[in-house]
Amino acid sequence: MTMPAPGIDAPRRGRPPARNEILRGDRLGGLDPADLAARYGTPFHVYDLDVIERQVETLRAALPPIVEIAYAVKANPALAVVAHLGALGLGADVASGGELATARRAGIPAERIVVTGPGKRDAELRDAVAAGVRAITVESPGELDRLEAIASAAGRRVPVLLRASVGMADGLERVRLVGDDGAGKFGMDEPDLRAAARTAARSSHLELLGIHRFGASNVLDASRLAAHVAETVQLARAVAGHAGVELRLVDAGGGLGIPYEPHEESLDVAGFGRRLASLADGWAATPGLRDLRLLLEPGRWLVGAAGAYVARVVDRKRVGEAEVAILDGGVHHLVRPALVGQEHRVRILGASARTARSWPVTIAGPLCSGLDIFAANARLPAPAVGDLVAVLDTGAYGFTESMPLFLSHPIPAEIAIRGGRSALIRPRMEPAEWLDRQLLPAW
Ligand SMILES: Cc1ncc(COP(=O)(O)O)c(C=O)c1O
Repeated sequence: MTMPAPGIDAPRRGRPPARNEILRGDRLGGLDPADLAARYGTPFHVYDLDVIERQVETLRAALPPIVEIAYAVKANPALAVVAHLGALGLGADVASGGELATARRAGIPAERIVVTGPGKRDAELRDAVAAGVRAITVESPGELDRLEAIASAAGRRVPVLLRASVGMADGLERVRLVGDDGAGKFGMDEPDLRAAARTAARSSHLELLGIHRFGASNVLDASRLAAHVAETVQLARAVAGHAGVELRLVDAGGGLGIPYEPHEESLDVAGFGRRLASLADGWAATPGLRDLRLLLEPGRWLVGAAGAYVARVVDRKRVGEAEVAILDGGVHHLVRPALVGQEHRVRILGASARTARSWPVTIAGPLCSGLDIFAANARLPAPAVGDLVAVLDTGAYGFTESMPLFLSHPIPAEIAIRGGRSALIRPRMEPAEWLDRQLLPAW
């Protein structure tokens, strides 16, 4: 009989429904982790595309028709993941030339791609203009000038959004609604935003569609997210009115959160959708807002829970009160826990999970760094050498945000699961492969 892995609750009356995530029972996307490990080697990153598809369906069902969804490629740029989301009809939010190339290779039409992010180089702007993307979000007056020159040289009229810094809302209380604004690095303050709107409105090479404004990451409160959207539309309306253009598109960014720790509750997506529907009813009755479209760029919410990082225990010892298990992979493949101090759920897979007693267990990677720890003194069944350990919720900002060259361990494979089948989507790389690409100067 298959027992649920520790920490996975058997369904009980009155309990919330099981989360849509890759680990179900002690299987990953319905497959035996030991089989995946035997086939692809450890460590590996794995993504369940069926989980992603259910997230898309849930989000689509919740949101009113005014909303378009562009997947934030930065969350997980694996080509197979982006192609899957593109095939489901989503657009893409890209933040570099490489991400634009990824979205295009994934088959996402240019008219569903928006380009956002500080520090766009001229070549990146030229590529976006040539591709004919849905909109380019402009982050500064200087970038607007460069884009206009590029659009003019290309003989194109380029659709633009202007990015507002967070914490700014024309005519509203200046509150930072949903958290950190990146210490002022993103977007423009009100005077620059208004001046840029006038410049864009006057230009025959730019078509000002509206405003982009990202609130904060990983927000679990539906009412705060909806308030951010409402405030952004008000600001956009004022700026568009000031520039004398009709407001057609507001991009309110991403930020839809997922629960990483057991005490956190899932975002009420249905409630978020209801709030947006009620806002949309109001906009439909407001002069100047009748043709408004709203763009959301979720990343984490779509792919986060679809991913797991799996590594094997290579050593086990007792240090102080804790049983310590050392894995063949660590924070060089998943830096998020060390980088943002975010605890991810850790699960022991296989026999030890069912039989071993729970102890204070430390699960650590092989790096010569005290930061390389996934669980410190956590109450878990103590895993044996050879056991597999899964770190959960790694589908977003997981492998892509890691530092795989540190300590020259093999770079893990990425695997996709769909309909009960697994496929390699990025092969494991051995150190010899990047040694071969290095040069010894002959001086
Ligand atoms: C401009 C922009 N859009 C969308 C996202 C995606 O955010 P999330 O994955 O939190 O939904 C980000 C994340 O940093 C972003 O900077």
